[in-house]
Amino acid sequence: MVPTLEFDERFMQRPHETYRRLREQRPVQQVVLPRGTKVWVVTRYADVRALLTDSRLSKDVRNAGELFDRHAANGAVRTELRQSLGAHMLNSDPPDHTRLRKLVNKAFTSRTVERLRPRVEHITEELLDDMAGNDEVDLLESLAFPLPITVICELLGIPQGDRDDFRAWSNVIVSAGGQDELGEASAKMAGYLVELIKRKRRQPADDLLSELVHAKEDRDQLTDTELTSMAFLLLVAGHETTVNLIGNGMLALLRHPEQLVELRADRSLLPGAIEEFLRYEGPVHLATFRYTTEPLRLDEAEIGAGQFVMLSLLSANRDPDRFEDADGLDIRRPAGGHVAFGHGIHYCVGAPLARLEAEIAIGRLLDRFPELTLARQPETLVWRDSAIMRGLATLPIQL
Ligand code: HEM
Repeated sequence: MVPTLEFDERFMQRPHETYRRLREQRPVQQVVLPRGTKVWVVTRYADVRALLTDSRLSKDVRNAGELFDRHAANGAVRTELRQSLGAHMLNSDPPDHTRLRKLVNKAFTSRTVERLRPRVEHITEELLDDMAGNDEVDLLESLAFPLPITVICELLGIPQGDRDDFRAWSNVIVSAGGQDELGEASAKMAGYLVELIKRKRRQPADDLLSELVHAKEDRDQLTDTELTSMAFLLLVAGHETTVNLIGNGMLALLRHPEQLVELRADRSLLPGAIEEFLRYEGPVHLATFRYTTEPLRLDEAEIGAGQFVMLSLLSANRDPDRFEDADGLDIRRPAGGHVAFGHGIHYCVGAPLARLEAEIAIGRLLDRFPELTLARQPETLVWRDSAIMRGLATLPIQL
């Protein structure tokens, strides 16, 4: 029987088995998401990678013709999220995309990010110090969440005291909750960012947000809404992704103790291991929405113009046509070519930062705690309910 994809609890907990059957039998399938939207889900590596650079797919709903009209009519595009926070590069096509991305590219190159190394190491050491007195900790709560949040908040200039609120709103926005909850969290987040930007205008500091305010005020390079949306995108991306690279990567390693031993013995394997963690269980489950601007035929499916398409990065990275023994973890394999950071013009701008943070966090964790083990049976661990992110709810470990 041809498998049907449903974004239910069972699938969220164990997506790989369903994806294996979909890649074999129905690699392009239309499904209904938890919030009621109908989308085409694409699961084979070759299709996913090709569509990530296909200009017939737009990221800007205004370019999606009829689809935009329908959404405008039923009010969906007027939600708080789209109105005040959605005018960012991940929702744009060139030339807007090119202009917006150029404003922050420089802040995230490998070379610029390398300068953050001592600060990332320092924050990591402090978090590890706090963990040290315990027998058992939740690795997400103790290290994987606070590290990237602290780094992105410092980079942008978000005051320390505001970070817990921000984390709560961000969590709601990427989870599969209802429209009311989403609307409320988005409105609070937007209100907060508008106020913060006003403060940065009055009192500029040495941070990226002040620099963006300057780009708006003095050089007229972006609008007010684009500025708020940019801050929103960077903060949510910085909050919700790297946590899962550290968490999913450590889970994979602790489930493969022989590879953990190899990595402890030869630390030069670490950068390659991180690429393999990204491939094996990447932090982003499905790439963000794309819209067809014209009809396209893909495998057996005829996709009309003005339809939503989602590309499963999780599935593409487990495609045996691209990666040998794709369901196996092998920290020595050449995992390059994975699509965990996307591909093409929307390729993750934060990739060098995410790699740096993961390398320091995982490397220092192994140094400090030579006897790390999982504190629960792996089958009992719960994955968060989100159609975008792939990450655990908690990761209890014994130190
Ligand atoms: C391991 C951590 C991360 C992963 C796996 C990841 C993954 C991704 C993916 C898959 C995309 C493309 C989405 C699409 O095409 O639909 C993307 C885009 C993006 N990411 Fe990341 N990301 C990570 C960390 C970060 C961080 C730390 C930042 C913050 C600086 C960031 C900022 C962005 C931005 C701004 C875009 C949009 C780029 C564009 O539209 O040109 N990401 N990321």
